[in-house]
Amino acid sequence: MVVPDELTLADAWEETLTGDCSFYRGADGDPYRNFATDIAGSAEILPLIRDLLDVAGNCDGGPLTVIDVGSGAGGLLARLAMAGTNARLIGIDLRPRPAGLDAGIEWIAGDARVVAGDIRGIRGVIVAHEFLDDIPCAAVEADEDGCPRLIYVDPSSRRIVVGEPLEDPADLGWLERWWPVTRPFMRAEIGRSRDAAWALITGMLNSGAALAIDYGHTRPERLAGTWDGGTLVGYREGRVVTPVADGSCNLTAHVSIDSVAEAAPRAQSSRIARWSSSPGRADFVSLVQTFT
Ligand SMILES: C[S@@+](CC[C@H](N)C(=O)[O-])C[C@H]1O[C@@H](n2cnc3c(N)ncnc32)[C@H](O)[C@@H]1O
Repeated sequence: MVVPDELTLADAWEETLTGDCSFYRGADGDPYRNFATDIAGSAEILPLIRDLLDVAGNCDGGPLTVIDVGSGAGGLLARLAMAGTNARLIGIDLRPRPAGLDAGIEWIAGDARVVAGDIRGIRGVIVAHEFLDDIPCAAVEADEDGCPRLIYVDPSSRRIVVGEPLEDPADLGWLERWWPVTRPFMRAEIGRSRDAAWALITGMLNSGAALAIDYGHTRPERLAGTWDGGTLVGYREGRVVTPVADGSCNLTAHVSIDSVAEAAPRAQSSRIARWSSSPGRADFVSLVQTFT
């Protein structure tokens, strides 16, 4: 099926994030109405952030700062404030400042991929918890000959359909490096947009550390075929639903966390691990990078 270029999955998904049918900016887009994240309950995250603040504390620079990117309802920053910290706390989210948030927490309402470009020289910790999986990306499905074909969105039903062979050299190069399409009918999400988002976000840091926690996978798993079905799904009212790019559900796809790690060339160390705080979420991964 051939559909117009402007309705590639990535473009249609972007409309459901920041465009005309934004899921998060709509009245129903309260993240916590549609899914529960671990941010409120995780026992591991505050000690980890404290350790990372110690890393930043040993560096020279301006005021210690924690920036929570895709902060949602600000729950992580609220926990940090409640636990007591001398760090400046800043949330960035598409959504407006949550009502009742601790007055000491700063809030920037906007697209982090734009906002981050204007912030430089931070000494501290950047956190992105269940943020990168929301960043729209392109995806392909291999045909019976193993040729990767771009996934589109049907303009009327807004459901996904498979279209023309992928031709973009940069996308082809990314697949070759990170997620080779070798088996008929396998699907793969192309992580370049997440890599770019991470490069921009970590670019805010002069020194300190960055922490991403998300649904994710690594190249050995992808090569082994563990994720051959692709990972694009919708979430609505706490349930996984068929992904329909009309703003009625939150679209998400797992993050190629190793490719994201490589997108921050200034990082002096990178550690990828399973993030095990939540039993039953074996596909959760963490990435810790230091910038000193
Ligand atoms: C799944 S929620 C996670 C919220 C919080 N980090 C947590 O773990 O509970 C994703 C959040 O990222 C925000 N978000 C998604 N894309 C964004 C973007 N490009 N810029 C800023 N915020 C974004 C959404 O508005 C939403 O609040």
